[in-house]
Amino acid sequence: MRALITGGSGFIGTAVTQRLSKKNFDVTIFDKRPPCDKSIKSCKYIEGDLLDLEKVKASIVDVDIVYHFAANADISMGFQNTSLDLQMTTMSTYNVLEAMRVNDIRSILFLSGSGVYGNIGNKIAREDSGPLLPVSLYGASKLAAEGLISAFASMFNMHATILRPANIVGGGQTHGVLFDFVRKLKRDHQRLEVLGNGQQKKSYLHIDDLVEAIEVALTNQNESVRLVNVASADLIDVNCIAQTVIDFLNLKDVSLAYTGGIVGWIGDVPTIRMDTSKLRELGWKPQLTSKAAIQKALSEMTSAKVV
Ligand SMILES: NC(=O)c1ccc[n+]([C@@H]2O[C@H](COP(=O)([O-])OP(=O)(O)OC[C@H]3O[C@@H](n4cnc5c(N)ncnc54)[C@H](O)[C@@H]3O)[C@@H](O)[C@H]2O)c1
Repeated sequence: MRALITGGSGFIGTAVTQRLSKKNFDVTIFDKRPPCDKSIKSCKYIEGDLLDLEKVKASIVDVDIVYHFAANADISMGFQNTSLDLQMTTMSTYNVLEAMRVNDIRSILFLSGSGVYGNIGNKIAREDSGPLLPVSLYGASKLAAEGLISAFASMFNMHATILRPANIVGGGQTHGVLFDFVRKLKRDHQRLEVLGNGQQKKSYLHIDDLVEAIEVALTNQNESVRLVNVASADLIDVNCIAQTVIDFLNLKDVSLAYTGGIVGWIGDVPTIRMDTSKLRELGWKPQLTSKAAIQKALSEMTSAKVV
């Protein structure tokens, strides 16, 4: 199989490239920056920006499937720059789909996000929940990208697999609450700034469970659009994550300084619960709870010298 991975140099792209390379896929990475992981340096690499449509059309050729991961992955950024998600997520997805259409490539796997559900409180988000009313430009752009993918799939006879993942953690991560806490505690062993009131509660999934979910979601995929949630079975709050990091780093007497409010930033939600029965019916099951995923990620970050 020949695969092209947009955002293949990023956190999730690197892990998926590693898995596909082990399975003898012929992998091409398309990214603005080169891969830094040694194990995937032998893959073909095309340096480029997905906003350059001509370059994208010239690059997405002779492959069986596109794994489309490149996007703005930081939800809070949309408040500072309101066109960022529109460009990096929605427009880049249009360019990928248009390149696939002209080059007759029929299969795409897309990572959306739980942000499409908006702030639904304690309701359980199922794939058929609605109305979908995002509260972040990140969520809005993911939802728009899902719409484009669905329309291209229907109009141009493509197969699309869309995953809506929870927060992903692992050794290679470059953003998110865990990464933020580790970085802050490395700078200051006594005080940890926590965004919000610390009670925001979400699911955290280890990258290995996500890579497995991607593989399961693609198995026997003959639907026009297959849409699945991906999350661990439980939720964990930010205070518990802070304590887990403090314990892991063996620090004592750390004071937590809350910025206040029920969310970490504008566009964040206090909680999100996702139903994953659809993916489980396809044969997927997460191996780790949220806390165990965080502990494993911390160990991996130590080996990768992030901690
Ligand atoms: N990490 C998570 O917790 C999480 C959760 C849900 C969904 N997702 C989605 O998964 C995808 C990958 O996330 P990640 O955590 O690996 O992010 P990341 O920031 O580590 O990787 C994104 C990669 O895309 C590349 N990129 C971005 N815009 C580009 C462009 N215009 N042209 C070419 N390359 C570009 C970046 O250089 C980077 O290497 C994103 O779409 C993200 O929204 C991530």
